[in-house]
Amino acid sequence: MTEIAVVGAGLMGHALALVFAIGGHKVRLTDNNPATLERAPGLMATALATLTEAGEVDASKDRQWLSTAVRCVPDLGETVKGATVVVEAVVERPDIKRAVYGQLETLMDPDAILASNTSNLDIFPLVPPGLEKRTVIAHWYTPPYLCDLVDLCPGPHTDPAAVATVRDIVAAMGKVPVVFKQMVQGYVANRLQAAMQLEVYRMLDEGLVTPKDIDDSVLHGLALRIPILGIMAKADFTGLLLMQQGLKNRSYTPPEPRDRSESLDALIEAGRTGVMAGKGYFDWGDASPEDLFRERDRKLLALKQALRAIGPMEPK
Ligand SMILES: NC(=O)c1ccc[n+]([C@@H]2O[C@H](COP(=O)([O-])OP(=O)(O)OC[C@H]3O[C@@H](n4cnc5c(N)ncnc54)[C@H](O)[C@@H]3O)[C@@H](O)[C@H]2O)c1
Repeated sequence: MTEIAVVGAGLMGHALALVFAIGGHKVRLTDNNPATLERAPGLMATALATLTEAGEVDASKDRQWLSTAVRCVPDLGETVKGATVVVEAVVERPDIKRAVYGQLETLMDPDAILASNTSNLDIFPLVPPGLEKRTVIAHWYTPPYLCDLVDLCPGPHTDPAAVATVRDIVAAMGKVPVVFKQMVQGYVANRLQAAMQLEVYRMLDEGLVTPKDIDDSVLHGLALRIPILGIMAKADFTGLLLMQQGLKNRSYTPPEPRDRSESLDALIEAGRTGVMAGKGYFDWGDASPEDLFRERDRKLLALKQALRAIGPMEPK
């Protein structure tokens, strides 16, 4: 058992605290917004209940267990003192991350590792010299108690032992670390997602398709194969000659990167900001966001369990 500190108790932070607690670690969670820290135990308990109902977590890990496994601590110094790994999950703003790293340099134990959950930032230039050797990016996907991928990146000065320690902790919890040799901005999954998203915005903005056309195509076309084959094994099954021909016969021009989408802006303008607002691209009726997240989690769990039983196509 390792002591883990999680700094930032928002969407990712509370869920990461739960993941490490389920993984057998002693966790302290903090946030500089008292209301966010107060909300965290309820959110963790809801997610934990979904996991125990699905048999993913032993039923003895109940609400009472959770209250001792994850301690919510308002003070940053108290949170990180004695922790082997400090998970940083504060807002995605360089100025705020830089300020937090400055505080952590003086508060963390001398050998403790800083693991940032940043989605897109190259955080290494923001880290003070005293933390450079022991800072890694450990990037999770939401919800991290269901998504197993963890991207691990060292910075230019990171000690390889720090990466190995985080990799081993993550792997021991049944997660799947992908270790990059250096910072790969966007990692693999977020880069692919960003490329796909550009195409989605273009097709919607040009009025070529509806949101339902896109999801029908993904759910009934792309999605069935990806969980078993990924992208690269699928290419082998398609045949690389056809892949080569596909590159030559390219029948359209890929979208230019752009920083806005008219169709997205119009939805937001109309208050259609997604599930939290009850509507976005689709209408989600009167169901509460909590119920919708629970339904999503149950379905994801059922899929995950089925995929675990089926297994991927393994190269022979
Ligand atoms: N949301 C996602 O799907 C997702 C997925 C992977 C990675 N991430 C990354 O995780 C990090 C957190 O994202 P989020 O979605 O949880 O954001 P969030 O806004 O839900 O939570 C961030 C929390 O940080 C807190 N905070 C801000 N300054 C602080 C400080 N000085 N000390 C302590 N707490 C502080 C805020 O009060 C807030 O509760 C970001 O770097 C983001 O890029 C997010």
